[in-house]
Amino acid sequence: MGSMVLRWVVTALMEADNNFRRVRGYRETTMLDVHHALPRRISTVLYSHLHALYYRVRNKISRTLKKRRWQEIPNHEQTTFFTESHQLFEPQLAGPSTFLPHCVGADAVRGVLPIIEELGADPYLDSVKGYYRKGIAEFGDEWSYADMSTVLYGICKVLRVQSYLEIGVRRGRSMAVVASMRPQCRIVGFDLWIPNYCGVDNPGKDFVRAELEKVSYRGEVEFVDGDSKKTVPEYFRKHPDAYFDLVTVDGDHSIGGAVRDLKNVIPRIKIGGILVFDDISSYEHPYLMKVWNRCIVRNERFAAFSFTELGLGVGFAIRKY
Ligand SMILES: C[S@@+](CC[C@H](N)C(=O)[O-])C[C@H]1O[C@@H](n2cnc3c(N)ncnc32)[C@H](O)[C@@H]1O
Repeated sequence: MGSMVLRWVVTALMEADNNFRRVRGYRETTMLDVHHALPRRISTVLYSHLHALYYRVRNKISRTLKKRRWQEIPNHEQTTFFTESHQLFEPQLAGPSTFLPHCVGADAVRGVLPIIEELGADPYLDSVKGYYRKGIAEFGDEWSYADMSTVLYGICKVLRVQSYLEIGVRRGRSMAVVASMRPQCRIVGFDLWIPNYCGVDNPGKDFVRAELEKVSYRGEVEFVDGDSKKTVPEYFRKHPDAYFDLVTVDGDHSIGGAVRDLKNVIPRIKIGGILVFDDISSYEHPYLMKVWNRCIVRNERFAAFSFTELGLGVGFAIRKY
């Protein structure tokens, strides 16, 4: 409220100042110039003071809010730096660029291929594998490609992931990538198990459990069945202390559903934890890019990266506060 009033006063003063110049532009009498000379100087000084004050108050409010979040919300010890003495920088230690070399390109694809080759074949997975192989054969190390699997692979290669939440599991491809790279991490998966999803059999959690075993997963996995719009908030109500190192949102692909899923999981990502969002350049869901940009890319609480030039597009972002 205070900052709104301050902003209004500064804007009003700026407008007054502009009006004044416009009046002077008419070259009216000397008297008018004399009359305006003093108010103009005063308004300039006042404006500069109010401008400085506005930003001081704004920064103070933002800093207080951030500090409270840094104290109250668990952080990922690897991607943050907190010190008892003078904290010069904000605590985030790694931005998306730290992960990019492991998430985008031929090495990431070469890392994902043997994992998904272990999984039960389906037309969707076969198509992805064929695309990967041709990309590598044609462009070798120069191939610049990313999707949800390569991004999860690269993140898990670098980040010590101990807890993973996934909305939209289907046959377990993305979950298997995380499970293979971090075989002991705790996993919670949410799905409605919509039959014949995108024309492919969607058999459910027992099938996914068996897939995770194939990639030597040894951790604790829990599946929550039902509509994520309800099940995710319910889960968090039952588990008030549950925070996650890594979260993937790839379930409900409607605008409302995707926004709700993002808003529901954001508060439970650790500071320094990572959010992955799929299909941001999918021709079937052109609005998901807007959802991603509006909810995450333009959100000061995240540092985000988006890959849209090939495939279906994928984004990931690190929580700053
Ligand atoms: C695109 S698939 C997930 C793909 C998976 N991440 C992978 O890498 O193969 C989307 C999944 O979300 C599920 N789903 C769709 N709407 C949902 C909702 N409202 N709540 C929970 N799950 C939903 C579908 O049943 C489907 O299994």
